[in-house]
Amino acid sequence: MKNVSFKAIVIEEIATGNFSRSVQERSTGDLPEADLTIRVEYSSLNYKDALSATGNKGVTREYPHTPGIDATGVVKESSSPDFPENTPVIISGYDLGMNTAGGFGEYIRVPVVWAVKRPENLTAKESMILGTAGFTAGLCVKALEEKSGVKGMKAVVSGATGGVGCIAVKLLSHLGAEVTALTGKRDAISFLRNIGAAEILSRTEFIESIRGPIGKGMWDIAVDVAGGNILSAILASMKYDGTVTCCGLVDSPSFKASVFPFILRGNSLIGIDSAEKPVHEKEDIWERFSKDWQMDGLDDICHTVNLDGMLPEIDKILAGGQTGRVVLEL
Ligand SMILES: NC(=O)c1ccc[n+]([C@@H]2O[C@H](COP(=O)([O-])OP(=O)(O)OC[C@H]3O[C@@H](n4cnc5c(N)ncnc54)[C@H](OP(=O)(O)O)[C@@H]3O)[C@@H](O)[C@H]2O)c1
Repeated sequence: MKNVSFKAIVIEEIATGNFSRSVQERSTGDLPEADLTIRVEYSSLNYKDALSATGNKGVTREYPHTPGIDATGVVKESSSPDFPENTPVIISGYDLGMNTAGGFGEYIRVPVVWAVKRPENLTAKESMILGTAGFTAGLCVKALEEKSGVKGMKAVVSGATGGVGCIAVKLLSHLGAEVTALTGKRDAISFLRNIGAAEILSRTEFIESIRGPIGKGMWDIAVDVAGGNILSAILASMKYDGTVTCCGLVDSPSFKASVFPFILRGNSLIGIDSAEKPVHEKEDIWERFSKDWQMDGLDDICHTVNLDGMLPEIDKILAGGQTGRVVLEL
């Protein structure tokens, strides 16, 4: 394929610790050598992209850089017979958008071992409304299903209006759980009701209401995206044999806990990582979203932006101010 020029968001370090973001012209010649060149159709905004876009060196070591840990599109050039030209693919996680130019650009080039064929029943846009946030919610729900079951269970989800949280609420409710949504947003009641929350609690009032190190058992299963005091309060309020999945740190990476929820109630705390999951496990989750996990109303939980429109969304997600998902159309 001849080099093609394309548009991408580029983050540059303009002075030590000072980062700019802009939409620039790039060339496919600037992309790394790899098996698949993909014309990206949609990407989405995740918390990690905002960290990359603001110079977090734990996410991205070298700048200039194009973030975007998610991308879907079609293969334009391939060295793999399994992924011929025009194959629709989803790439999420691994090094995409971290130190490999990511989905906030019209082209990416990636190793074939990162690629999942997009299931027929999932449109390009649906796959990015879900994106890494939805994929991670799916991993949490799968872990809960395997450990405790979901149907009829009392579930609690933190960060419920955020990306992972809103899809966790929607999916758990779709599968028959009775979901309590924890939120910091006073104006999110109708959003949370529409995605299936049976009960909505203010996260600060929830934390203040819980007696530690172990209080009244209220939940069978939990999805926590916050860490910190929220995770401490969730752990102290699980019922006997309850299961908590832990996937995020928007409150804090540290949390206080005691052994009591584990040794008196047999509770389990399961860690969830989405980025490095083996690709066959990624395929399984995407397939489920196209079959028994297929949900109506995904369009209602997202707003769609172009490259210029993505720039201000980055600060909003860092401030915990997003409701639902931001989808990038390219
Ligand atoms: N382990 C993995 O593989 C993986 C994958 C994806 C994401 N994550 C992590 O999961 C977390 C959520 O990601 P996301 O993409 O869903 O982000 P997001 O869209 O920004 O959602 C986070 C939500 O958490 C709530 N929140 C914000 N600040 C908070 C605080 N101080 N205490 C408690 N809740 C707070 C807010 O919702 P409310 O206002 O409704 O409370 C916010 O919308 C991040 O830490 C991210 O890095 C991990």
